Amino acid sequence: MNAQSSPTGSALDAYWMPFTANRQFKDKPRMLARASGMYYETTDGRKILDGVAGLWCVNAGHGRREITAAVAKQLEVMDYAPPFQMGHPDAFALAGELVKIAPAGLAHVFFTNSGSESVDTALKIALAYHRAKGDAARVRLLGRERGYHGVGFGGISVGGMTANRKAWPAAMIPGVDHLRHTHDLARNAFSRGLPAHGVELADDLERLVSLHDASTIAAVIVEPIAGSTGVVLPPKGYLQRLRAICDRHGILLIFDEVITGFGRTGSPFAAQEFGVTPDIITCAKGLTNGAIPMGAVLVSKKIYDTFMQGPAGIELFHGYTYSAHPAACAAGLATLAIYQQEGLLTRAKQMAPAFENAVHGLRGLPHVIDVRNYGLVAGIELDPIPGAPGKRAFDIYLKCFEQGLLIRTTGDIIALSPALIIEQKHIDELLGILSCALQ
Ligand SMILES: Cc1ncc(COP(=O)(O)O)c(C=O)c1O
Repeated sequence: MNAQSSPTGSALDAYWMPFTANRQFKDKPRMLARASGMYYETTDGRKILDGVAGLWCVNAGHGRREITAAVAKQLEVMDYAPPFQMGHPDAFALAGELVKIAPAGLAHVFFTNSGSESVDTALKIALAYHRAKGDAARVRLLGRERGYHGVGFGGISVGGMTANRKAWPAAMIPGVDHLRHTHDLARNAFSRGLPAHGVELADDLERLVSLHDASTIAAVIVEPIAGSTGVVLPPKGYLQRLRAICDRHGILLIFDEVITGFGRTGSPFAAQEFGVTPDIITCAKGLTNGAIPMGAVLVSKKIYDTFMQGPAGIELFHGYTYSAHPAACAAGLATLAIYQQEGLLTRAKQMAPAFENAVHGLRGLPHVIDVRNYGLVAGIELDPIPGAPGKRAFDIYLKCFEQGLLIRTTGDIIALSPALIIEQKHIDELLGILSCALQ
């Protein structure tokens, strides 16, 4: 037990917390103080099993000293390097390592600082790519209902979350349309792995092509597995069909792998797991094991080469002060080395059967209307309390935290995405606490 003083009362006022019910939280704060392996510790010294790898990012578990040491060493040697018209060796080394684990053909890397920035960067690259090859009429971007692509204006526009459309209706970028989502409880409830029904939902892309004409469409962006809107899985064959339709019409396919990247599904990227290679992958989170903010956009050789054939000078008018920050690159290199040494990029495949059996053991508990899973991701959907959407799941969230478990909820869906180092004993502990809370 390592109790640590914690702010209370007016000391909580100044910090405006993101995606948080601030007043509710400040009334009864939940404060984390330290983390190691599969566990957090609260400021009052309670051990909390981390069922969500922080926020889908700490894939190698908490407190990895190799990463800490690499970052500390880098900051001592060189704290910062401007990424515009200057380079530093680790930026090139990290891009090279990423390309090695990426699907074949995704051979170039643009660095960002978050998933949101990766998404907006990918959308800008898609638009600029068509313009660079003389196809400037391709200005439309397509997303999907229930998609989450971060919080930038591009990301909320292609995303399909109603709350964004309600809060910022005038700020949506023009020309965007959406595919139908693939969530179908009537046909697919309690699926193990990819759901059997719904491949035809990919044909919705043909509908949008007929409506807008392919000559106006630049790209379609989807999450291979949607996480933030409640673990929505692609029906068998769906991503393959999207790829085929994109190819037929010269539309770029972007996979937002901010949560599926770095081993979550059992392969380095979901693209490899599902055997579908997009033109662009966005990633972040697991890239540095959550230790330092960083994101990346992986693009195909075809896209990069198109830019490199244009007039001499700056090929893409885009970048961030902290793109390829030396500390982030050091963290990324150390993280990828851990993933390789410990086989973590494919470990989810090994652990998936035990995890799947454990989560499906929740079937039959009060209010559980679906359990779905893939690799080391699971979604448990609860019957909402009439008139109080989200309350049932959030009450479970609070109960779990009291009992020593961190989960994530969105609406009335519980998401689990433990670190890839998880062992059977953690699975037992996690499901033990969660099933007690549900009961
Ligand atoms: C698929 C997806 N894209 C983008 C983002 C945004 O990432 P960030 O919060 O790092 O901006 C997230 C975050 O959860 C995500 O799940």
